[in-house]
Amino acid sequence: MSFTADTLLLFGATGDLARRMLLPSLCALDADGLLPEKLRIVGTARSPMSDSEYRNFARAALEKFLPANRRGRMADFLNRLHYQANDVTTSEGFDALATAVGDSKDRLAIFLSTAPSLFEVSIEGLRQAGLAGQGVRIGLEKPLGIDLASSREINDAVAAAFPEARIFRIDHYLGKETVQNLLALRFANSLFEPLWNATHIDHVQITVAETVGLEDRVDFYDQTGALRDMVQNHMLQLLSLVAMEPPSSFEADPVRDEKVKVLRALRPLAANESVTGQYRGGAVGGQIVPGYDEELKRDSGTETFVALKAHLDNWRWQGVPFYLRTGKRMHERVTEIVVQFRCVPHSIFKGARMQPNRLVIGIQPEENISLSLMAKVPGLDRDGIALRSVPLDIAMPDAFSGTHKRIAYERLLLDLIEGKQTLFVRRDEVEAQWAWIDAIREEWAREGLQPKPYNAGSWGPSAAIALAERDGVSWHE
Ligand code: BG6
Repeated sequence: MSFTADTLLLFGATGDLARRMLLPSLCALDADGLLPEKLRIVGTARSPMSDSEYRNFARAALEKFLPANRRGRMADFLNRLHYQANDVTTSEGFDALATAVGDSKDRLAIFLSTAPSLFEVSIEGLRQAGLAGQGVRIGLEKPLGIDLASSREINDAVAAAFPEARIFRIDHYLGKETVQNLLALRFANSLFEPLWNATHIDHVQITVAETVGLEDRVDFYDQTGALRDMVQNHMLQLLSLVAMEPPSSFEADPVRDEKVKVLRALRPLAANESVTGQYRGGAVGGQIVPGYDEELKRDSGTETFVALKAHLDNWRWQGVPFYLRTGKRMHERVTEIVVQFRCVPHSIFKGARMQPNRLVIGIQPEENISLSLMAKVPGLDRDGIALRSVPLDIAMPDAFSGTHKRIAYERLLLDLIEGKQTLFVRRDEVEAQWAWIDAIREEWAREGLQPKPYNAGSWGPSAAIALAERDGVSWHE
């Protein structure tokens, strides 16, 4: 149902995500006049707090996490905030929540940013309090389960109260401007699509490298690991956007129909197609950092790095490997997609070194698109023409100066409030993602795979380099 919400009800309103991302995003939207005039934001969490205490909490978060030049109208924004304590594990507080929401229960957007173990009780409480009617939509923050079975359980619990058209599963990578730009690049230019297939593309690389370590999420991370924390969601979403067929429109179902076909075409990995690693002490950006087990204060078999060689069993991508890698405490923070084209079938330039074209889509921290082309080195060529690969670069911030970089959640929260589902993940996508990930974990368990150590500040264990190099491929660094 299409409506713009009057109230945003935020579960987990005192949590880390709310402080770092959600409140800053909402305030930034407000500063740009993008929030609906009447929108109220009701925060809820376990701790008792008055409205004014919550506003103080929010002010401190904004001052810390939102740049000063994006805090215009902060006082007005804070006035939109209200707070109602509720312990979701008891059913008692939900009526008070319904009272706090008031008349907006027919135009309500809910965002569950709590531990997934609390989703089921929260949804049941909402349903009983009359907060799951036709005029309510619900956003769910990841992780949506730890495997296919638990994800199905969560999806079933949500589906018991909300139809799919009112469920908004977040993958914050889909809110990133450059990730959406990938669709623009592919489907708003006639240049790439005819070449976007196994005839012309040799392989694709997707890297999501982080320099951070465990941060404050020790227990969560140790029970999760890189495969489930990053590959199951963000990386598979990137892969599906790179590989999908052209959807008929940018509407929710056409886009998601195409993504899910890609996810279902993922071939189960063979035993030698994955490498896992765990960082030990080292230096990142000139700073000495401890190893994972030192941060954790115990030994662990959890992977903080994973590299995979994936294949899609469909016509377009037959024989084209997709190399994926992600890790914590790596050499630098970079998210990028590299599309490596094939070499020309025959070189007329005898003796010249030919390099295949390569498209690099930088997602973060730099937003840029670079296409390498072969060009003639200037000169009179008495010994034959010399060629060199030169980049055709587009730095997005320069191309679009005057616009500012937005937090991914700005887009996603606004879409939730306005009911636009295109950038949210559908149930069949999440489940296809989990099915593929579960099979990898089963394979690891069968083989007794242990993560290989790598130095913090490196690009991961040498086995990850070998994974690509045995196919004659080098990771783009
Ligand atoms: C989260 C993961 O989903 O994404 C984190 O749980 C990771 O471990 C984060 O650090 C990365 O997001 P971004 O936007 O900084 O690339």
